[in-house]
Amino acid sequence: MSYGSINTWKLIEKEYKPEKALLYDSLFSLGNGYMGSRGFHPEENKESYEAMVFIAGVYDYIKAGITDFVNTPNIFYINLYIDGQLLNPFECNIIDYDRELDMKNGVLYRKLTVRDSKERDTVIEYSRFFSLKEKHLAVTRYKVTPLNYSGEITVLNGIDAASSNNPIPDDQLKSDSEVVSLFDVTSINHYKKNSVSIGFNTKGTNIHMSEALCVVSPEGGVEHDSISLAKIVGIKSTKKVLKGSSIELDTYSAIYTSRDGIADIEKASKEMIADASLRGYRRVLRDSEEEWSLKWDISSIDIKGDDLLEQGLRYNIFQLISSNSQHDGTVSIGARGLTHSRYKGCYFWDTEIFMLPFYIYTCPEAAKNLLMFRYNTLKAAEENARNQNLSGARYPWMCNTDGIEQCETWDIGFSEVHITADIAYAIENYYNITGDIEFYLDYGAEILIQTARYWASRFTYDLRNDLYNMLFVKGPNEYGGVTLNNTYTTLLALYNLELGKKAIEMLKSNRRSKWIDMKSEMGFEESEINLWNDIITKAKVNYDEAKNLYIEDDNFYKLEVLDISAYKKGEEPLYKTICFDRLQRYRVIKQADVILLMCLLPDKFSKLEMKAAWDEYESITLHDSSLSYGTHAQFAAWLDYKEEAYSYLMKSIRLDIDNIMNNTGKEGIHFAAAGASWQAFIFGICGIYIRDHTLLAKPCLPDHIKDVQFKLIYNDRKYEIKIDNSHKPLKTNISTVD
Ligand code: BGC
Repeated sequence: MSYGSINTWKLIEKEYKPEKALLYDSLFSLGNGYMGSRGFHPEENKESYEAMVFIAGVYDYIKAGITDFVNTPNIFYINLYIDGQLLNPFECNIIDYDRELDMKNGVLYRKLTVRDSKERDTVIEYSRFFSLKEKHLAVTRYKVTPLNYSGEITVLNGIDAASSNNPIPDDQLKSDSEVVSLFDVTSINHYKKNSVSIGFNTKGTNIHMSEALCVVSPEGGVEHDSISLAKIVGIKSTKKVLKGSSIELDTYSAIYTSRDGIADIEKASKEMIADASLRGYRRVLRDSEEEWSLKWDISSIDIKGDDLLEQGLRYNIFQLISSNSQHDGTVSIGARGLTHSRYKGCYFWDTEIFMLPFYIYTCPEAAKNLLMFRYNTLKAAEENARNQNLSGARYPWMCNTDGIEQCETWDIGFSEVHITADIAYAIENYYNITGDIEFYLDYGAEILIQTARYWASRFTYDLRNDLYNMLFVKGPNEYGGVTLNNTYTTLLALYNLELGKKAIEMLKSNRRSKWIDMKSEMGFEESEINLWNDIITKAKVNYDEAKNLYIEDDNFYKLEVLDISAYKKGEEPLYKTICFDRLQRYRVIKQADVILLMCLLPDKFSKLEMKAAWDEYESITLHDSSLSYGTHAQFAAWLDYKEEAYSYLMKSIRLDIDNIMNNTGKEGIHFAAAGASWQAFIFGICGIYIRDHTLLAKPCLPDHIKDVQFKLIYNDRKYEIKIDNSHKPLKTNISTVD
């Protein structure tokens, strides 16, 4: 659907600007959860680490114990030759250029008209997609039309095994000049004139990958030859093409890894491309399109009166779907999804706090598998706690599939402990919205109990004052230093203790024998609950009753006031101007902290407390993390601050499309911001909430939005929500659909 000049289902690039190439590489990223790639042009002369193709869960060591997200061989490599001469379209005069991401069906389409140094004009069309139906399959179509000449056209469709990684240090200011290759080629098999397969092994983690590729010309008349050229393995396809006619080639690539639990992955990849090529491009695309249309049926948000908002929201949703491995509980979603290896491709609290609600309400199975990932890494979290001389389970700040801490900076890795309570919060949230009691009892409860035990050991008892302190802790505000009694962490930890108690009661009444076994396996003593109760009643919480204000931490008012306007330039993070260490002693906030806590547990705070928090914190929050705008939008909407809500919402929703933080090209798509945007719109602007097991809405819609329509799944039922803002007072209708 298109309103005005924007096609809200598409992202369109009309002019090729080399300085914007990285930005569009990020924006045009595609994926199907199992694998994904950036939107680079197939013929571009990229650095070996820039043409990124990722497979969820494939990591390899870059140093002892520390991994990077492996940039796997580039399956989209193309060289174009005219009369035997290589033609790089980006070194020609580009006469016409059009690139479009169609979010409706997940296809990236490009049409180029170029004039080369011999004045030959050539049209080069290209499309690429990852099948949403067949997760191992990626397909491209390449069509070349000489406009003012006839000639012999050769296309090399290959797999570039020279791909490398350029690991980015955790310290955002350190340069990243190192280039490493993380896999070896183990086999090359030119088994047909139009088909090849290659085997790879990651060097340290020993993950085996098989990639097969075949090229088919739907119209025939093309000679194929399977070749290896240095590290490029592929198919050369040649045809004499008359002026005005074309050569058209479809490429089918299949990827399997030893993580798939299939005995013969080479056979599987060969069978996949043979089968797909028999069915043909259109049929394979139609199957994938059907999956996309099912996805959009439940997750599309239709908005009348604001195309920028509708397009931006769709883009965020498109990326959330593309980077989620819906059926796989052994992976989560990295901070940049499958669009970049920034943060070493690691999983953070970003998933549970910012992205998860989107999946809970639109695809509970995906949400469940994201939480299963935490269950599958519970043992690693227990070991982590033991290594820190603590009890229960302590989840790592950043990790890959094995759940082992990957954060290399002490102040964050050891102190930003709130992630453990964030995960417990997410389990309860999932259970409350889906009613999935089986998951809760079989998996969730154990996490809730082990994380509660962790918190009981993480608080420190102060004998003199008979209270419990949360010492040496960093809240979501990473500029807040390693501080004392961060309110966000303390209150979520206390909530986690409550959830641990509830989980025990639930197991006792629903799975008594499981609880008895679990108890003895964990060495759990019922008396531990006495300590939990003591902490719940005596933990130190910074609260100013006169002002109704929750204070961020013990040190907050000791910090020096900063004239932000003198230092902050636009949206650029302040750590680029003021060193991270110095920032810790200024009273500025990197990203939503107390305000986020209130968004997570709204029933625990009064309206007065929420207003007081906004007044105290909003003006000194720098939003130096992309996670912050969405939370502020949601909170502002709850406070009925319409203008602020809309302004924050747009920053969050268009963060990547408009490159607001100026790092989308270099770092990929911000997935937490995508999730926060969705929440800001649904829970903030549309005001969706649950009371007494009923889905309700209290919208705070800007006047220019006339009509909003979307669906949500709550408690196993699908609901359609319609908000009509064209008459005053606005009308909300929530009804069930089949
Ligand atoms: C933010 C964290 C976030 C991480 C990954 C950091 O800049 O401060 O809250 O988890 O980025 O997105």
